[in-house]
Amino acid sequence: MTHSPDTSALQPTASAADSSACGRSQQHESAAAQVAGAATYIDDIAEVRGTLHAAPILSPVAHGRLRGVDCSAALAVPGVRDVVLAADVPGDKLLAAFGHDEPVFAMDTVQHIGQVIGLVVADSVQAARRAARLVRADIEALPAVLSPRAAHAAHSYVLPPVTVRRGDPDAALNQALHTLSGSLEVGGQEHFYLEGQIAYALPLEQGQWWIYASTQHPGEVQHWVAHALGVANHDVRVECRRMGGGFGGKETQAGHLAVWAALAARKLQCPVKLRLDRDDDFMVTGKRHPFAYDYTVGFDDSGRLQGLQLTMLANCGFSADLSGPVADRAIFHADNAYFLEDVEIVSYRCKTNTQSHTAFRGFGGPQGVIVIESILGDIARHLGLDPLDVRLRNLYGTTERNVTHYQMTVEDNILEPLLSTLERSSDYRRRQQAIAAWNASQPVLQRGLAITPVKFGISFTATLFNQAGALVHVYTDGSVLVNHGGTEMGQGLHTKVAQIVADELGVGFEQVRVSASDTARVPNASATAASSGTDLNGRAAQFAARHVRDNLASFVCGLDGCGAGAIRFEAGQVISPSATRAFKDVVQMAYANRIQLWSDGFYRTPKIHYDKTTLTGRPFYYFSYGAACTEVAIDTLTGESLVLKVDILHDVGRSINPAIDIGQIEGGFVQGMGWLTTEELVWNDQGYLSTHAPSTYKIPATGDIPAHFKVDLWPEPNREDNVFGSKAVGEPPFMLAISVFEALKDAVAQARARAGRPGAVCLEAPATAEHVLQALQQP
Ligand code: MTE
Ligand code: HPA
Ligand code: MOS
Repeated sequence: MTHSPDTSALQPTASAADSSACGRSQQHESAAAQVAGAATYIDDIAEVRGTLHAAPILSPVAHGRLRGVDCSAALAVPGVRDVVLAADVPGDKLLAAFGHDEPVFAMDTVQHIGQVIGLVVADSVQAARRAARLVRADIEALPAVLSPRAAHAAHSYVLPPVTVRRGDPDAALNQALHTLSGSLEVGGQEHFYLEGQIAYALPLEQGQWWIYASTQHPGEVQHWVAHALGVANHDVRVECRRMGGGFGGKETQAGHLAVWAALAARKLQCPVKLRLDRDDDFMVTGKRHPFAYDYTVGFDDSGRLQGLQLTMLANCGFSADLSGPVADRAIFHADNAYFLEDVEIVSYRCKTNTQSHTAFRGFGGPQGVIVIESILGDIARHLGLDPLDVRLRNLYGTTERNVTHYQMTVEDNILEPLLSTLERSSDYRRRQQAIAAWNASQPVLQRGLAITPVKFGISFTATLFNQAGALVHVYTDGSVLVNHGGTEMGQGLHTKVAQIVADELGVGFEQVRVSASDTARVPNASATAASSGTDLNGRAAQFAARHVRDNLASFVCGLDGCGAGAIRFEAGQVISPSATRAFKDVVQMAYANRIQLWSDGFYRTPKIHYDKTTLTGRPFYYFSYGAACTEVAIDTLTGESLVLKVDILHDVGRSINPAIDIGQIEGGFVQGMGWLTTEELVWNDQGYLSTHAPSTYKIPATGDIPAHFKVDLWPEPNREDNVFGSKAVGEPPFMLAISVFEALKDAVAQARARAGRPGAVCLEAPATAEHVLQALQQP
């Protein structure tokens, strides 16, 4: 692996550059503890005496009437204490989910294989799991809807459809020089967080609760648990120090586990831990939404788009969960980097008898981007043009052709310079010729090459979530404790927030600690999601630290008789025109003079607003950009493929932490590569997810990482006023992996052309060996 981030432009230019925490590759705050096995995950927390363990009872039928549950065999297992069913829910028997359409435990119907009917609670995990398998549910099977197309045909939806339209797509398509119609199927994705879903619920005195949950959204867990128990939010405290990965899979799905554990704890009046094993996690929890698309696109001889009619079918599973905002984000990203002048997008939110699909890195964005990239690739092959040229021809402009189909002006467009820089640095044109020549000489192996861009909108599409709070405490020894509403899932949020606070107070990084996310410290926090963890919580923490700094500055002004503006906080010192003092000495003096040494901070993203019914306005504060050039090889006899070389140029604004940002770019890319190549979810004709373990569900392994993997950072700060001039990085790089899919299509197209079948390529995602072979052999 080679890394050559151009970090020179990213270093702070201020005189304090040397002592600043931001802008340097500070090691992740938990790195040493994690590699030593000393970082605490929920299953590592010492169990309170009397802790019991729960295991879920799963529906074996995709759709049916639940007539009864026979628990006698389970209750006879040694160590089993009790079972917990819908009748044991004291509060609302429906979860406090967005759509309010999901039962806590299945009641009169079951809606997917793996739906949780209840829990077995036992002295040990093993006894609970063994007994759960002995529960017999009496179910009268009903017809199941198992694909988005079947759901659409049956008008089976979790939410009403949404249409976004601009210009006159019908007229544009009628007048277009060329038209192409097609369809595309794109699979879902299992989150495969290394730490599976887990919750540990402890009853406290006076009807209060302490919940440890592996969650991206402690506030939502608190709300759900209170709702199901029928208690007030102030009686439920939720804590999460870190997750072993979330990837969107713990935005809502962690709530279910916490509610279940709490209900068991309430019934048995004991602490209860619920940890799903990997197979159950696969069967119970939602995944990335699989999508199906139908489109007709018009274009001229140069490949410039002239009208697009696009239908998107999102497979939402059995309930709404986050499907509304996910499908909305797919609409918002169906342009990716391109100006769609006359366009109609109709989005259906299909209800199927599968797990309820949920947030997953990109949150519908990838499902929007892949369809337009696929269409542009097909247009290029149809016209015999280079796909990069067709992409460049359709890019958003900077002064014209710069308004999205949802009426937001793209003000920070860097697509053209970014793409042409990558085109040069990756040597795209020369390699393309070399590959064509190489392919012509090969009987079996064929290579392909593609560059695809990403433009990703940053902000929660649910505008109200774009707020955050933080607390900064300075103790009398000068050490600093930060608590903010965000959660740590490996992405480095706590590290970046500590860097920001350290710089605000002019102290060293090691002097700042970030404590566990805790609903009792910062209330009503949004999910850590939409890539905006640092933008929101980093700013809130910066403001909190600034309040403390202001208090200290006016105190020093009083001592030295100067204006507050004259005080600098740098390198662990507080510098006034007449004196330089150690930060910790100033803190002690301030404490002795009864100056407040802690504060809160609050941030709300400016400028954003949009109309939820028409999806028009400015949903995003800014865009993050990037592009990837990917070279692949396929074996035309077996369909197997290999990603050979990847060059990425990605925009993180002014990087707070280049090492963490590059890690996010690499990780996002590889995870996207898994989605589009080997990770295949197969539901059989009964609706049973047959790929529910790593034996059959293949995430990328270290050996799949391309031998040449180069990541460069775009050397320009965010043009909007964002913390440190940075940009969000968590999700956008995921979509760079669409270059893998387009490169595979390029290789297939070259192989087909040699076999006398030039033109469009029909490749389903993921591009497994089977699908590549089908694409090669299709008539
Ligand atoms: N990186 C790691 N290591 N683990 C994760 O679970 N989740 C991703 C991304 N990067 C994830 C990750 C997702 S889906 C999001 S939305 C962001 O991190 C959330 O964190 P941030 O907003 O602080 O970037
Ligand atoms: N991203 C992630 N999670 C969300 C969003 C979003 O845009 N909107 C609501 N929840
Ligand atoms: Mo990320 S899918 O927004 O948790």
